Amino acid sequence: MSRTRVVRPTPKNLAAAAAHLRAGQLVAFPTETVYGLGARAYDAASARRVYKAKGRPSDNPLIVHVSDEEMLAGAVKRVTPLARRLMDAFWPGPLTLILEKSSRVPGAVTAGGSTVAVRCPSHPAARALIRALGEPVAAPSANLSGRPSPTTAAHVLRDLKGRVALILDGGPCRKGLESAIVDARGARPVVLRHGTITAEAISRAAGVALRAPGGDAPAAPGTRHRHYAPSCRVTLVPPSLVRHGAVPLDAGSGLVHRSPWKGRKARFVRRVRGGAGAYAAALFAALRDAEAAGVKTLFVESVPDRGVGRAVMDRLRRAARR
Ligand code: TXA
Ligand code: MG
Repeated sequence: MSRTRVVRPTPKNLAAAAAHLRAGQLVAFPTETVYGLGARAYDAASARRVYKAKGRPSDNPLIVHVSDEEMLAGAVKRVTPLARRLMDAFWPGPLTLILEKSSRVPGAVTAGGSTVAVRCPSHPAARALIRALGEPVAAPSANLSGRPSPTTAAHVLRDLKGRVALILDGGPCRKGLESAIVDARGARPVVLRHGTITAEAISRAAGVALRAPGGDAPAAPGTRHRHYAPSCRVTLVPPSLVRHGAVPLDAGSGLVHRSPWKGRKARFVRRVRGGAGAYAAALFAALRDAEAAGVKTLFVESVPDRGVGRAVMDRLRRAARR
């Protein structure tokens, strides 16, 4: 494939996007978390195209996106009471559930496993696309494997130009971090990947304490891989050093501050205002912007490791790993 079209998610373009999917092609689309690279979930050949386009290791399964419960019922063996409570609390929204897969979901989607990750996104364009197809859409984040997840259509184009037929441009993603992933097969939830729906909120909605990952609920395979890494070196800076002036700062507001060390191609990203949620929403774009500007060293202010900050720090630590 060579040509990639970027279009707004109008009814006409959504119908064209669904036709692409039906024909086995890939379509990138916005969700409330990050952009996804979609393919028909019930078709093994389509799913394999996703791995190829991303350069994704074949041992890393895909999330299956549904538009409603009827569609969910076709993709899983059964909905556990725990999954039911979490769906009631958080769907549609940025929560992915691990359940036993139905026979309709091919091994190409689940990396050969018997479980499937399912999520019902809240973004209107994502929902309209899935509804127009009338079937679940398998979609990892629409980045090249190992790179920061895309939160705008321009990010997707940068990574996947020539590798995807169509990109639906729904503007910047509101949450900016990938969904929380919860193993909901048992009586207690196991958080496999932290997201903007916090572990505390998940436990509260479930009405039971979380169970720690491990044993028969291993961490999400994707969280073992190197990830979120822009081409510049990322160094985390604790807020205490920022406050005490150990890091020189520009005046001004906004999330991203060009550092005074322009000659050395360094830049500093810090949280100026808003909570960890606002920081999360802008973070991947800040990593990609720095990279595009040729920054060699990016200093990033860390945030306290609780609530949404836990998901932020999870991504930042992996971006900083070398
Ligand atoms: O917010 C999101 O979840 C975005 C949007 C597009 O929905 N998608 C996303 O997909 O982040 P991806 O492929 O970048 O991350 C999916 C994660 C990986 O870490 C993968 O290992 C894990 O989900 N996963 C998928 N199926 C799984 C399964 N059956 N058991 C455990 N982990 C699974
Ligand atoms: Mg990803």
